[in-house]
Amino acid sequence: MRQDPLQFLTGELNALREQGLYRRLRVLDQEQAARTAVDHRSVVNLSSNNYLGLTTHPKLRERALDATRRLGVGSGSVRTIAGTMEIHMELERTLAGFKRTEAAVVFQSGFTANAGTVSSILGKEDVIVSDELNHASIIDGARLSRAAIKVFPHRDVDAARRIVEALPRGQRTLIITDGVFSMDGDLGALPGLCDLADEFGCIMMVDDAHASGVFGRNGRGTIDHFGLHGRVDVQVGTLSKAIGALGGYVAGSRALVDFLYHRARPFLFSTSHPPSVAATCIAAIEVLENEPELIERLWENTRFFKGGLDALGFNTGLSESPITPVIVGDAARAMKLSDRLFEEGVFAQGIGFPTVAQGKARVRTIVTATHTRDDLQFALDSFRKVGQELGVI
Ligand SMILES: Cc1ncc(COP(=O)(O)O)c(C=O)c1O
Repeated sequence: MRQDPLQFLTGELNALREQGLYRRLRVLDQEQAARTAVDHRSVVNLSSNNYLGLTTHPKLRERALDATRRLGVGSGSVRTIAGTMEIHMELERTLAGFKRTEAAVVFQSGFTANAGTVSSILGKEDVIVSDELNHASIIDGARLSRAAIKVFPHRDVDAARRIVEALPRGQRTLIITDGVFSMDGDLGALPGLCDLADEFGCIMMVDDAHASGVFGRNGRGTIDHFGLHGRVDVQVGTLSKAIGALGGYVAGSRALVDFLYHRARPFLFSTSHPPSVAATCIAAIEVLENEPELIERLWENTRFFKGGLDALGFNTGLSESPITPVIVGDAARAMKLSDRLFEEGVFAQGIGFPTVAQGKARVRTIVTATHTRDDLQFALDSFRKVGQELGVI
């Protein structure tokens, strides 16, 4: 009989079980919403990136259905062969206008936007200077590029400067940071890094996955928030979080976008979005422009919930965004906190290594514009009960 050559995976999984790190996928029974049902339990949902509640916005739903009726369910090809529909071009023009750049290119996800861009614009003669907490898609893109990767401590502009100063003059160098860090909710050191990039002629790139729709005027992101238009050469955004659908994009110069059309491997070798997704994202940008009250509500809820967790005595780190971590340290304890919250009717995922460093395990919360005060108070009451029970507070 044939031996299973993947038998070793069972061993790895058993090791995760022993460390209390084995996670079953939680399954939503209903829509992605602020209050929903997960694994047959009604919960206040603090785990999604659906910042503005756009996953269920009536206008977006209608546009998706209309595009499906008019244009079908799929694009049928990669963008460079036959998979570019007028609606893809319209979305790219809309995103460029929104981000105030010359052009934009849409990828299948934020992950492929980062990985595809970093790996195509840099090569093995180049240097990448990267914040230690940058997203996995940046790290993978950097590895694929074969450039030298120099990591600076989180948000430490002086350390980044020392790296850049030590490089030969004229060395092609990319400085890259997340706009909002997804596990801590703090902001990248954009102003200092932009100054550094200007001084040494480096390429400046920001991944605004968690900032688009959240920071800046009408959700234009951290570049707008910090007043850095024209100083960030490569702006990445995602269409999968606040925008409520799926995809990623790069906004920048016409030449950058044309180059990515020719060289970014996920763009060249993977089929483009169904028309319904493109239509949904165009409608989402219209909502950002026309319904700023959604962003105001997101921030009101953020202040209320973050203030409540702090008042209870939880360690919420240095978050400046709607992402508020409840840092516990020990991974098994973080998972226990998450599981007990779930039993109480609050869905807030436990996050451990390798997503965050060893000893920094946490329960991550994200409030949205569509949570009611009652939802958030219920969640705070549950955090108090379970936090006391487990000795976290
Ligand atoms: C900082 C950051 N960048 C990029 C991504 C990838 O975005 P997407 O989910 O659209 O692939 C994520 C999502 O997990 C993220 O948190």
